[in-house]
Amino acid sequence: MAEYETVLVEQRGRVGWITLNRPDALNALNAQVSREVSHAAAAFDEDPGVGAIVVTGSERAFAAGADIKEMEDMTAERMLATDHFGEWNTFAAVRTPVIAAVSGYALGGGCELAMMCDIILAADSAKFGQPEINLGVIPGMGGTQRLIRAVGYYKAAELILSGRIMDAAEAERSGLVSRVVPAADLLAEASALAESIAAKSLPSVYAAKAALDTAMETTLAEGLAHEKTAFAALFDTADQKEGMSAFREKRPPEFRHR
Ligand code: CAA
Repeated sequence: MAEYETVLVEQRGRVGWITLNRPDALNALNAQVSREVSHAAAAFDEDPGVGAIVVTGSERAFAAGADIKEMEDMTAERMLATDHFGEWNTFAAVRTPVIAAVSGYALGGGCELAMMCDIILAADSAKFGQPEINLGVIPGMGGTQRLIRAVGYYKAAELILSGRIMDAAEAERSGLVSRVVPAADLLAEASALAESIAAKSLPSVYAAKAALDTAMETTLAEGLAHEKTAFAALFDTADQKEGMSAFREKRPPEFRHR
């Protein structure tokens, strides 16, 4: 496994774990973090032995945002020329399902990183928000686009325009978080969920994630056309035959591609 300095990377069974590890900066996302998280996620994505990825932080902070100190002296020219947050596109493009296990602060880029994942599990201590407006900027890692899709225009507008931070219960009510669990149980819950996904057939998991992604990016008619084709294509896989015959024979499926 590659050497990383700002993240801990570990494979447990069929689950790849990426733990943000810049405790002195509440896991603020600087260029090195974005490079390392994206590299680790891409490596897991290429490994057919990995069926799900968990991204997490510390008890105190998932991530308190993009690194403000790194950005402070940037110019518009340099921001655009270097595509400052471009590395995250690699992370957002992985085919493997990614679970964000969020404890503590998920602010700015931290909230945006969680939203690049497929499922957000939150500890009851989690806090979500897009406070960039307080710094004289706006969200820059997808927040203005993904938060609206997650919680609707009006809720997103309030959060982005006011910079207000919401707690885990409000985030769950808003549809950003799929489940809130006691902080002490967060990693065990994330692990159980990741393992259950990693036990499915990979072709159907990839197809499900691609169809969900398509729903975020296109019209209903285009999305339904994508789903129809993807659904049909799975009938050419051995795992579809196995899944359905296992159902008929009243036994658990033994998927080949996992
Ligand atoms: N960037 C760089 N350093 C950060 C940071 C960030 N986003 N967030 C926290 N830190 C650092 C602090 O500077 C501090 O370091 P020092 O001890 O060297 O001063 C350390 O982490 C601990 O932070 P605090 O002392 O501030 O801890 P706290 O418990 O008093 O407050 C907090 C916690 C409310 C999260 C506060 O740290 C905070 O408001 N952080 C910034 C949140 C923010 O504005 N995020 C958006 C960033 S911009 C962005 O993300 C753009 C984008 O869309 C991609």
